[in-house]
Amino acid sequence: MKSTLSFSSPAEIETECLAVVVLDRTENNRSEKDRTAKGKPDVRIETSDNAVREAAAEVIASGEVSGKIFEANLLHRPANLKAKRLLLLGGGKASSFTSSELRKLAGVAVRFLKPKGIRSLAFLAPEAVGGAEAVEAIVEGAFVGNFDPDVYKSDRKDQAIDSLTVVARGNQGELQIAMHEARAIGESQNFTRELVNEPSNRMTPTILAERARAMAQDVGLKCEVYGVDKIKELKMGAFWGVAQGSDEPPALIVIRYEPADAPASPVLGFVGKGITFDTGGISIKPADGMEKMKYDMAGGAAMIGAMRAISLLKPKIRVIAVICATENMPSGKAQKPGDVQIAMSGKSIEIINTDAEGRLVLADGLYYARQLGCTHLVDAATLTGAVVVALGYVNAGVFANDDKFYERFTAALNKAGEKFWRMPLDEDYKESIKSNIADMMNTGGRWGGAITAAMFLKEFAENTPWIHLDIAGTAWMEDNKPWIAKGPSGIAVRTLVELARDFTA
Ligand code: BES
Ligand code: MN
Ligand code: ZN
Repeated sequence: MKSTLSFSSPAEIETECLAVVVLDRTENNRSEKDRTAKGKPDVRIETSDNAVREAAAEVIASGEVSGKIFEANLLHRPANLKAKRLLLLGGGKASSFTSSELRKLAGVAVRFLKPKGIRSLAFLAPEAVGGAEAVEAIVEGAFVGNFDPDVYKSDRKDQAIDSLTVVARGNQGELQIAMHEARAIGESQNFTRELVNEPSNRMTPTILAERARAMAQDVGLKCEVYGVDKIKELKMGAFWGVAQGSDEPPALIVIRYEPADAPASPVLGFVGKGITFDTGGISIKPADGMEKMKYDMAGGAAMIGAMRAISLLKPKIRVIAVICATENMPSGKAQKPGDVQIAMSGKSIEIINTDAEGRLVLADGLYYARQLGCTHLVDAATLTGAVVVALGYVNAGVFANDDKFYERFTAALNKAGEKFWRMPLDEDYKESIKSNIADMMNTGGRWGGAITAAMFLKEFAENTPWIHLDIAGTAWMEDNKPWIAKGPSGIAVRTLVELARDFTA
């Protein structure tokens, strides 16, 4: 999708469709009686441009436009505008309208228009959100909305918006940078979604590594890919314990962003779970829904996408990504319940359930990232079904062993408009992963499963400030939403990029 900025008056924009935001400005303190007396909410179009206001005046006066979030009204041949259509997008209550809603509305516009065969869209930045912030939200949201997962449909019509114009006001240079950066972020989030969308026969560990390598070459990142020999040489017994059961060779992917103008410290470490298919191993999963386990590499893919964006945005900080990619398969060579594996750190693990494989590969990934000099760690993983029980499909789980680092994370989160909810990591939970034979077990029983999984990882982050993201419930959209397609969501990419951008020791 081509994206351009325009400072023209909205009436002069030649486009198939001009999208504008309408908000419900009914005052909160207006009494219920007043509301019903008037009969309709106070809906206002978010522009001071008279031509646009006039073009929409009649439909707004009709009371047909509610301003409710994601409501779309399409007008043809709007009077005195060069645009062929005018799209009114409901943004909900003005008092709660932020860049997060705006980002979604841009996605709504794209997803509403593209099945109609419309290819060009101009989006009028609403005055309710600041200049650069609005441009960023619109561009990111439009890219996210433009993605569809139906890549293997033989009759795929390749319906997409080809051209996005953001109509804005403000400092041209500043807004141009905002557009450029938002584009890098939106495209990188979609790159992650492309990787996650691929089925496991087309996204083996080797292919994932190849895609990472090609991306790295494109944007000028260093990328190393190691195989079985190196994994064994590094004594990654936990990672290898999972990988040994598969005929597909594992891949240890290391991507480095080391700009010359960055200080030696801090070094951010991004560690991703890259299980390209999770059968459960010998503790095999039920058949029902197992096909979804192709997305068990979403944490790794998020790290790869984030590295892409970071290398394009060039923040002055070092970042190293470590992705542990393998299948989790049952076979004659597979590890079995009761087996003991020695992780790279030297800690011993009793395997209780071979389906708790993500924490095993991450144990070695986290430790290795520390060996490579990372001073701060973030891991992302579709780690537990338990986090879905706890938080559903709305919030992802976040765990942190360091409050200061967590504060920086929340700042990034708010900028990115993603949803994570903090979960506890009290030492009391450690009890449940105690083993009779080894330093720990790889499962902690039925209750608090997302927490005991995080407690396991904590043993390998040790004293390094560390954040763990459990994205099992949020990496895959279970339904179509007005702003995003059903399928891979690309969760965490935007937050990771914002974290790196603002991070200083
Ligand atoms: N990849 C799964 C977690 C998962 C579940 C991701 C649902 C996405 C949706 C993970 O490897 C797993 O199997 N976890 C087990 C752990 C259990 C055996 C302790 C789980 O959550 O059931
Ligand atoms: Mn599993
Ligand atoms: Zn898994």
